[in-house]
Amino acid sequence: MKAAVVYESMFGNTKMIAEAVADGLAQSGAALDVVVRPVTEAMPEDLVGLDFLVVGGPTHLRRMTSRRTREMRVGSRATSSSRSSNDSEEWAQVAATGVREWLASISDVATTKRAAVFDTRLRYFPADGAAPLIARCLRARGYRVEAVPRGFLVESALGPIVKGETERAKVWGMALGDQLLAPCTCRGDAAPPRVGRSFRMSLGQARWGIAP
Ligand SMILES: Cc1cc2nc3c(=O)[nH]c(=O)nc-3n(C[C@H](O)[C@H](O)[C@H](O)COP(=O)(O)O)c2cc1C
Repeated sequence: MKAAVVYESMFGNTKMIAEAVADGLAQSGAALDVVVRPVTEAMPEDLVGLDFLVVGGPTHLRRMTSRRTREMRVGSRATSSSRSSNDSEEWAQVAATGVREWLASISDVATTKRAAVFDTRLRYFPADGAAPLIARCLRARGYRVEAVPRGFLVESALGPIVKGETERAKVWGMALGDQLLAPCTCRGDAAPPRVGRSFRMSLGQARWGIAP
């Protein structure tokens, strides 16, 4: 059986979690053959022939990232004199494509319809994350999200990952793989929590020092 873990990551934390989930899938009872791809490199063709898709991304302002939130951080870094032009190009690419944009590109090509989702989010701000919204986007494209959306914690916006979370991601990946051998329970189809009201956006902007 084949699986793909597709992730978005600005500072490398979600990438590490994605790799741990992939390890878990590969070591599960289903012994999946797993590819791990950043959204900036994942092609719609990567979904052909898959049995399972895992999608993950960072939480920005309690939601999936958007071009606007990615540019807030990229802008401040890309102008740093310590960055090479190659780095700047890479950051511009990161700003252009996130999970949101990638999901919009996959609608007609996917051959698998089984999926799971995760996000990374702050340890001290863990209530809402991007994962339920990623799940909602996948469902809108006909996927069954077969596990409760999962959040993995980071210490600060740049990381590192909270101790023990990488191991938790691997265990989660193993459980997902094992679950593939059982009939689908579709537990993730419950409505995601309500997020994203304007006062929350203001709170997020204040917390991150972002001008509205
Ligand atoms: C602009 C911006 C907004 C953020 N907003 C939130 C938030 O609302 N809630 C939260 O838990 N973390 C928030 N974070 C922290 C991210 O969750 C953290 O940067 C991310 O998990 C790191 O993953 P990465 O290294 O893969 O980019 C924010 C980070 C940035 C840069």
